[in-house]
Amino acid sequence: MPYISQSFIDDLPNQIDIVDLISKRLSLKKTGSDYRAPCPFHGGKNRNFAVSSHKQFYHCFKCGESGGAISFVQKIDNLSFVEAIEAIANEFGLKIEYDSNTKPVDPRLERYRDLSQKVSAFYIQQLRSSPAKEKAVSYAKNRGISGEIAKRFELGFAPPSNNDLLLAFEKDEQASTDLKSLGLIKTGEYGDYDFFRDRLMFPIHNTKGNVIAFGGRAFDNKAKAKYLNSSESPIFSKSRELYGLYHARKFSRTMDYVLVVEGYMDVVALHQAGFTKVVATLGTATTPEHLQILARTTNTIVFCFDGDNAGRAAAWKALKVTLPIIKAGLIVKFLFLPDGEDPDTLVKKESTKAFETRIEKAQTLSKFLFNHVKSEVDFDTIEGKTLFLEKVSVLINQVNYEIYQQQLIDGVAQVVGQSVEQVQTVFKQQAEQVISTSIDPIPTLVVDDEPPIPDFSDFSDDYQSPSPTPKENSTVKVLMSRMISLLLNYPSIAHDNDTVEVRVRALKENDKEFTTLLDLVHSAEMVEDVSQEELLKPFKVKTGFYNRLQELCALVPFLSENAAKNEFLDALLKVERRQKKTQSLLIKDEQEYVKSLQARRGKKS
Ligand code: UTP
Ligand code: MN
Repeated sequence: MPYISQSFIDDLPNQIDIVDLISKRLSLKKTGSDYRAPCPFHGGKNRNFAVSSHKQFYHCFKCGESGGAISFVQKIDNLSFVEAIEAIANEFGLKIEYDSNTKPVDPRLERYRDLSQKVSAFYIQQLRSSPAKEKAVSYAKNRGISGEIAKRFELGFAPPSNNDLLLAFEKDEQASTDLKSLGLIKTGEYGDYDFFRDRLMFPIHNTKGNVIAFGGRAFDNKAKAKYLNSSESPIFSKSRELYGLYHARKFSRTMDYVLVVEGYMDVVALHQAGFTKVVATLGTATTPEHLQILARTTNTIVFCFDGDNAGRAAAWKALKVTLPIIKAGLIVKFLFLPDGEDPDTLVKKESTKAFETRIEKAQTLSKFLFNHVKSEVDFDTIEGKTLFLEKVSVLINQVNYEIYQQQLIDGVAQVVGQSVEQVQTVFKQQAEQVISTSIDPIPTLVVDDEPPIPDFSDFSDDYQSPSPTPKENSTVKVLMSRMISLLLNYPSIAHDNDTVEVRVRALKENDKEFTTLLDLVHSAEMVEDVSQEELLKPFKVKTGFYNRLQELCALVPFLSENAAKNEFLDALLKVERRQKKTQSLLIKDEQEYVKSLQARRGKKS
């Protein structure tokens, strides 16, 4: 690959306006001589991110990110320096100047691309003139592919014989070797043979329009492999290529959305129906690389899947890959087709308008997310709602784009019918739980203001530790917090039987931290139907503490009284066991110390 000339790089900032560049990605507001927006790098709602037209520079007053046009595109689109320049040049219609003195990095790449182009020409020519071409032509016709579209996608025909491709290149030694490297010629027991035989050929193009690989469709649906694809090679990586991207860019006036479908035929059929903003993953699940490429191409990605279970599973996978990658200005939607249909079949059955409406009405990511998780739990019960909350919080915590994350949290609050603050607290705690390494699958509800608990995996074998390890402590705290929030929400736990009070008192004897819990148990025990407010009243004087208790109130929102009580007793038992274990370890430690002391004394005397 040749290098971009230094003079072009140096001159690039003069060729473009950084305000134009950034305003395509963020909603900038003019403020004095600058433009302002919420910072895309650290998130947040305030307009801390300033773009100066005069200086052709951006700067965030909060997180300190700053730089020029190239650095902005690099950071926001996750691109290398060269890729960022290419993206900008592309956007502003500039022709990149390359340094003609430098040689391509890897001479094979150029050779492989040239050869792939020649192979593609060979397959096209076979579709026109092979003695066996009739089969391919009538297959294409039966599938409704017009001559024009076949030409657009450079469709070809791999003839049925074992070695037509081999023979076509046999005089070129280098090409013959390279065809093997590209997997187009295979070596078997009886010598070399063509990999693609008796198939309709779909060349795969990179974004520049070079052929880099092939897909081949068998004519018989019962064939062992309906589709065969080129193997991975230095010029082709399935996880990074999208079939049809080159054509989408070439044949669409704007890329205001991109429809992501599953198959070659879907792309081709959609073009034929007039939908050109369409790409297909090549028989693989959507990868983060695919998403990065798509996010650079469009503001709206519409994933299109069959409405059956397999389609939903694939969509769910795509959603999970998407969450961490969502960034400012990117919208992701999901379009589910009726059961048994794919875009190819559907677009032939219904009108263009009808399909267009489907695209317009595609589900938002949040709607799909909520609906899917809802379908996994028994949402009509309080237990189901709790589970829902836990499941969505794990997912939403993966979103790195803060504003969007907040919007999702708002959405969750609506779905479960709680206040945003309450839901927010659950999310925060869930996020902390990921950081802390809790032994028990109970949400982390630490009462302390301590920073998130670091990973204490070095101490993982806590049965051998002589004293309570930090992890031990944190687990006890987690359990205690859980008990407090359960009690605050279900005070009846305390006056069900008086053993609760006795047991919590015993905990407090060993660990002063349990004073608050004991006090709460007392108050709850004394008054039937005590309100949360009354329970909290004695703590009002200590503001910070009072706030933390209020936070704890917001947790455990959807349990039945019975479930709450069981959970409380379960946590109680766990803490008791831990205290016992710690004590026996302390005793053992002491005994061992005494033993070693005696041994040393024995030696001395
Ligand atoms: P589908 O099985 O949905 O095929 O596979 P399709 O696109 O509807 O194909 P037609 O309509 O029967 O011709 C979707 C995609 O998965 C990959 C191909 O990329 C295909 O387009 N695939 C499928 C394979 O790589 N190998 C296979 O055997 C099948
Ligand atoms: Mn199909």
